Amino acid sequence: MQDLMDTLTGKFTAHYGRAPEIISYAPGRIEVLGNHTDYNEGYVLSAAINYGTCFALARREDRQVRLMAGDIMEEVQFLVDAPMPTEDHMWSNYVKGCLSGVSARKAPPCGFDAMFFGNIPLGSGLSSSAALETAAALCFAKLFDVEISKLDLARIGQKAEHEYAGVKCGLLDQVSSIYGKENALVLSDFRTFDIKPVNFPEDVCFLMCNTHAKHALVDGAYNERRQSCEIAARHFATVLDHPVAALRDVSWNEWLQYGPSLDERVARRAAHPIGEDERVLAGVEFLRDGDAAAFGQLMFQSHESSRKYFENSCPELDTVVDAAKAIPGVLGARLSGGGFGGSAVVLVEKRHAETAAQAIRSAYAHKHGEPCDTRLIICSEGARIIQG
Ligand code: GLA
Repeated sequence: MQDLMDTLTGKFTAHYGRAPEIISYAPGRIEVLGNHTDYNEGYVLSAAINYGTCFALARREDRQVRLMAGDIMEEVQFLVDAPMPTEDHMWSNYVKGCLSGVSARKAPPCGFDAMFFGNIPLGSGLSSSAALETAAALCFAKLFDVEISKLDLARIGQKAEHEYAGVKCGLLDQVSSIYGKENALVLSDFRTFDIKPVNFPEDVCFLMCNTHAKHALVDGAYNERRQSCEIAARHFATVLDHPVAALRDVSWNEWLQYGPSLDERVARRAAHPIGEDERVLAGVEFLRDGDAAAFGQLMFQSHESSRKYFENSCPELDTVVDAAKAIPGVLGARLSGGGFGGSAVVLVEKRHAETAAQAIRSAYAHKHGEPCDTRLIICSEGARIIQG
């Protein structure tokens, strides 16, 4: 993080001719268990990671905003009171959405010069956009001198995704970036918003394997999955004799009994978050008992459910997970996040981590020509102001 901050400070000072006043940092995330459960009011185990984004700004005397993407050195300008989404420079929409969200709580006192810079591989499914939103929102709250709770910060980021980027995401990415804890997973209940750290065995770690695959229509496919889940929830509400506000309220047995009366595809979509909720709760118990092997099996089952029911995997992710199954020391693997490309997360015994990473890279290269990118993930602290 120090490296990122130093690089950003250097770039900021060179470009704007003065040093930044406020700097924040927000990490990306891995999703470990509980796929597409957040917007179904269910449970997720996730973690903030050792890759993230720094956001820096300095006040201006007028109402102008200059915003610079420090990696590609592209700049956009707009008035602080009118952060409208645009079709070019899509990256700026995440920041503008957050500016609009913070401004709804307190009017901006002034314009500013801003720049961000991060090391989360783009399109890797590790939530670079949520890290950017969270880092930006934290800086704006500081500049505007307004107190915003952690959960409301997450909601500001989510609203930016919905209204400025067109993705009807849940709150998982922002919550993980904000509530992350060093060496721990974050267990989130997306109905009660009870969010707490969960320890995991010391002799295991996570690898993230970035396939670089990005399949077309990702956002549309995500929104379609969400819609199917909502249709299914409405169906279960009419056939079950207890209240159903979301798929969180439906058990696997109820799905088995009443799923067949649904459209076949909608029923399959619903099976995934319903099964995932049960796996997260079982997984928490396994972690309490220190049983990483049993936890890893749940990760494999989760991926199978993605593949079979939710159809949000792809051949590249399947290659990683299938290869991982046969590698010594690997306990579990699954896709992480929205799906349709991006990264798979692998649970491995620490002493086998390096050899497992090599084996996955070569199995991947064998099938797809190029190796995937593997990185050791360290569960890390959540977002914070680091200067100012
Ligand atoms: C993306 C979304 C999250 C969540 C995951 C799937 O990361 O942004 O809200 O729905 O997909 O679990």
